[in-house]
Amino acid sequence: MKVLVTGGAGYIGTHTLLELLGCGHDVLVVDNYSNSSPIALQRVRKLAGRDFESLQIDIRDTEQLTEAMLEFQPQAVIHFAGLKAVGESVEQPLRYYSNNVDGSISLLLAMDKAAGHNFIFSSSATVYGAPQYLPYDEKHPVKAVNPYGSSKLMVEEILGDWCKSAPGTAAISLRYFNPVGAHTSGEIGEDPQGIPNNLMPCIAQTAVGRLPQLKVFGSDYDKRDGTGERDYIHVMDLARAHVAALDYLEQCNSFDAINIGTGKGLTVLELVKTFEQSSQQVIPLELVERRAGDLVSVYADASKASRLLNWSAELDVDAMCRDTWRWQSQNPQGYSGE
Ligand code: NAD
Ligand code: WQD
Repeated sequence: MKVLVTGGAGYIGTHTLLELLGCGHDVLVVDNYSNSSPIALQRVRKLAGRDFESLQIDIRDTEQLTEAMLEFQPQAVIHFAGLKAVGESVEQPLRYYSNNVDGSISLLLAMDKAAGHNFIFSSSATVYGAPQYLPYDEKHPVKAVNPYGSSKLMVEEILGDWCKSAPGTAAISLRYFNPVGAHTSGEIGEDPQGIPNNLMPCIAQTAVGRLPQLKVFGSDYDKRDGTGERDYIHVMDLARAHVAALDYLEQCNSFDAINIGTGKGLTVLELVKTFEQSSQQVIPLELVERRAGDLVSVYADASKASRLLNWSAELDVDAMCRDTWRWQSQNPQGYSGE
């Protein structure tokens, strides 16, 4: 299949590109490199042993996008491009709505012009808000609690309406839980700019000495060891889920949302302990106050993905930690170290 990948130079995009290329798909990457580096794409080319085109385009530039689409004629679009820092979205809501919502509308307009009708969207478990029950299944009510989450929900609504408006269009929204890990080569991985927001990059950067210690946000939750629980999913499993969703699009002619997680919760301290074992590094840590807005527990009911996509997570937490460590220890400064 010919697949246009927006945000393909980013963390999840690069890993998915490798999976797509490995399965024989042809790709065109569109990225403005606002949170990534073209070096990441060079590494994907090397690992895949195959070349592909990449264009520096902001997805809000409908004209340039349309031109690229008319030329490439993709049979499907995978839409990763977006801003993703929750705290930043609270401080700069308009930037988030412009990038994530206007950007998605611009992409759909370009698809309409190029008669594209198959779409996969990077959504997030954050659309569920606080749990009314656990695990979260796709029928759980949705409620955004910050502009980032609202932008994801708005795009899901837009995709629903887009699918209704034209027969033959299909869109799948993959609601990712907590992506972590890296490709086993250690050549590509997560490379956050500035101080990371998420737990795994904080652990990895502490292990490599870029951060002095890990701050554990809250140790008095009503959980087995008092720390927050999440459903961490290996990025290569997540990448495979996109390939499975591409196949499923062929039989789907409407909008659908599907959770992508393992279904298992892990606490902060459990993840740190596994990381220490796999990396043979000690992670100095300090137990601090709870982080505002954090939930105690988040994990998926991933049975819909298994039923519809014939996909389930295969890689365990040891692999998540081992592969993160390989990437971080081989690239202590991320791609900028090259
Ligand atoms: P990332 O920042 O590494 O990748 C996003 C890519 O999109 C970057 O390469 C960036 O340069 C590009 N981009 C951003 N705005 C753009 C624009 N206007 N035009 C063109 N390119 C643009 O993030 P990621 O972790 O790979 O996440 C990919 C997607 O998955 C995002 O939409 C994110 O919201 C979603 N998601 C991520 C997580 C997570 O924890 N990583 C969880 C749930 C959902
Ligand atoms: C995980 C756990 C923290 C950092 C966020 C977004 C969500 C989604 C995934 C995009 C929590 C604890 C963290 C640290 C810590 N992204 N923690 N010390 O909060 O589940 O979700 O990323 O869609 O929208 O909100 O992930 O990795 O930030 O936190 O103790 O330095 O680790 O309190 O319990 P979260 P996270």
